[in-house]
Amino acid sequence: MSLISCENLSFAYEGVTVLHGLNFEIEQGNYLCIMGENGAGKSTLMKGLLGLKKPSGGKVTFGEDLRAREIGYLPQQTPVQKDFPASVWEVVLSGCLSGMGLRPFYSKAEKDRAVRNMQALEIMDLKDRCYRDLSGGQQQRVLLARALCATRKVILLDEPVAGLDPLVTINMYKLIERINREMGITVIMVSHDIQAATRYASHILHLGEDRQLFFGTREDYRHSAAYHSFMDGEKAVHIWKKAAVQEEKKRSGGTRAAAAAKTQKEAETESPAPEAVQKGGKA
Ligand SMILES: Nc1ncnc2c1ncn2[C@@H]1O[C@H](COP(=O)(O)OP(=O)(O)OP(=O)(O)O)[C@@H](O)[C@H]1O
Ligand SMILES: [Mg+2]
Repeated sequence: MSLISCENLSFAYEGVTVLHGLNFEIEQGNYLCIMGENGAGKSTLMKGLLGLKKPSGGKVTFGEDLRAREIGYLPQQTPVQKDFPASVWEVVLSGCLSGMGLRPFYSKAEKDRAVRNMQALEIMDLKDRCYRDLSGGQQQRVLLARALCATRKVILLDEPVAGLDPLVTINMYKLIERINREMGITVIMVSHDIQAATRYASHILHLGEDRQLFFGTREDYRHSAAYHSFMDGEKAVHIWKKAAVQEEKKRSGGTRAAAAAKTQKEAETESPAPEAVQKGGKA
């Protein structure tokens, strides 16, 4: 049985359907990227998988003893969330809340878990800082550690790199890749970045026109009509990244831009082929 299975799923707000006819399955160890233009329903689907939004039709089925509260979630960021007045430690630990039931205090195991996740994401030095004083990239790492505290199985990331500069974006993608490959956690990520999707994900779900335009492997996606219709967007992203690196170069005198270019090159040459994940029987 699949880890998550969606059958003829639809969602509506106040009687108006925003998504319908979703049919796809996610297996343990997959890295699914959900693509689609603004308003396509990506965040709505994420909330549906989490049980925060009730489907107007169809159903979501969980296999392998998975429960919605065992899914880690990094929500799409809003300005209000970025201004959250709590310490990094409090924010990360709050990821354990869903598993605590009525117990009022964090256990030692939960605190140890929070420390382990912060160490893995290299944010221990931020532990006592106020979350709202951090940079965008640091905040996303904190939220990633928080989401990891909630799960050993599945993590949902809603635009985790939105607003981050190219260097921080690549580092974030590498972290997510490690979470998937080394920790064996299934990743479901919303993204507008078609290059990253076709580089890191094992599977793609492309939403548009209130429905599913494509679901399948990354390889099949590259031959799909949905992919080709998105290519104009890809060109725009490429131009934006190039412009951002040049802007960074102007500001920093070249040092940081050189690091970004190096990391980009490393990501392109060193990253193990995602096919390896599939050969390992996870896709
Ligand atoms: N609470 C709500 N009440 C009414 N309509 C909503 C609500 N939330 C979302 N919608 C509508 O549902 C549709 C899908 O929204 P959703 O936020 O899921 O899109 P998205 O793909 O995540 O967009 P983005 O890329 O901008 O984050 C949009 O038309 C949106 O206006
Ligand atoms: Mg959204």
